[in-house]
Order: sequence, then C-alpha cells, then structure tokens
Amino acid sequence: MIIAIDGPAAAGKGTLAQNLAKHFKYAFLDTGRLYRAVGYAVLQAGKDPSDKTEATKAAKAFDPKSINQILSNPALREEATGNAASKVAVIPSVREVLLQLQRDFAEHPFFEDGTPAKGAVLDGRDIGTVVCPKADVKFFVTASAEVRTDRRFKELKDAGKPADYDVILKDIKERDERDSKRATAPLKPAEDAYVLDTSNMNATQAYQAALDFIAINHA
Ligand code: CDP
Repeated sequence: MIIAIDGPAAAGKGTLAQNLAKHFKYAFLDTGRLYRAVGYAVLQAGKDPSDKTEATKAAKAFDPKSINQILSNPALREEATGNAASKVAVIPSVREVLLQLQRDFAEHPFFEDGTPAKGAVLDGRDIGTVVCPKADVKFFVTASAEVRTDRRFKELKDAGKPADYDVILKDIKERDERDSKRATAPLKPAEDAYVLDTSNMNATQAYQAALDFIAINHA
C-alpha cells in the first residue's frame, strides 16, 4: 500500500503524512528532505545550488544505507536550505538520481531502525504524478499562500527562531513559482488525486478528512 501526498511548501503535507504513517503503521519518507540534503551539501561546499555538475555530484554521493542519518540533520529545516532545495530540484539529472532512491523506498519501505514495513507514505511534489503514479491513495494538500506563510511563521516563532512574515511570503511564492513552472516533474495534482484544501482546516481536521476519504474509497 502506497499513499502519495503532494502539495506546495508549508501546506501541511509533512504533518498529514506522519499522522497517516503512524495510523497505518507504514514507513514514511519526506522526499523534500532528499532535495534539501542535496541543496545543503552544495551550499556547504560553497557552490551554487543551480550548478548542474555540483548538484548532481552531491545527489550521487548519497549512500542509501545512511539515508536516515543524512535526513535527520536539523539544518535541513532552515528556509535557506528549502530555497536551495527548490533550485537543485529543477535539475533533471538530480531528479533522476533521487527518483531511483524514492522508488526503491516505495517498493521496499522500511522504518528508521531498518525493519521492513507493509506500506509507505511519501510526501513531496511529484509523488502521485512521477515517483509512484500507481499509488493506492493520492492526496494533493494545498492552502492559500497567506495561510501557509502564517503557519511557517508560527512554526519558526514557536521554535524560537527569527521570522519575518514578508520574507517568508516572498520565499513561498518564489518556490511555488519555481516548483510549478519547471519542465521536469512540476508541482501539480495527479489526475486521480484527492485535493485537500486546508486553508480553513487545522492539522487534526485535515487528518480526519484524509482518514474519511481512505475509509470511503479504500475500505
Ligand atoms: O517543507 P516544504 O514544503 O517547505 O518543502 P520540502 O517538501 O522540504 O521541499 C523542498 C523543495 O524540494 C521544494 O520546494 C521542491 O522544489 C523540492 N521537491 C521536489 O522538487 N520534489 C519532491 N518530491 C519534493 C521536494
């Protein structure tokens, strides 16, 4: 069983994905973190995330066995890393390397301790369209740019980090634009995706709506 969750930045995909993975006891992969890890590696090397050669080299350097350790680096959550991620994500050769990693995970999902799982929840931008076009359940989670900015702002504040509303809104709009307009695997709902607009929902309501959808359509 594969559950694909796509949507724009800060729409609440990650929280929903984790809640569903916990509920069904499936393994979870935040695919955005893979792109973030590539963006971060390029920044750490002092290079430009839009540099095809550098970004592809960084993607190829991943050892799938140590993926959990790589993805748990807290620096991956930073806004600057998110922006670098959306730059490396435009590069087709980077996507190709990461595509294989994601498909391998979807085919043979495993938990953080390495034990195999009966199902997988993947969240990203192109899971339902490209990575797992045959996923059993597909959600496209979205919300207005302003609501998403409010959420990210609050998240940063709660974590005691500096947060500027206007800067976050600009960053979110920029990333939406770059993610939706790129030629390879752009952000868009799969034809068979259930669109969940969470502008007027909190995390619990979005989770409940997703569970209801699964119960009705995949009983
Ligand atoms: O958490 P947030 O929604 O801010 O972003 P993320 O899911 O961590 O993804 C960071 C960036 O990686 C996105 O802006 C996309 O450009 C890229 N990405 C992608 O292209 N394809 C995916 N399956 C996941 C992320």
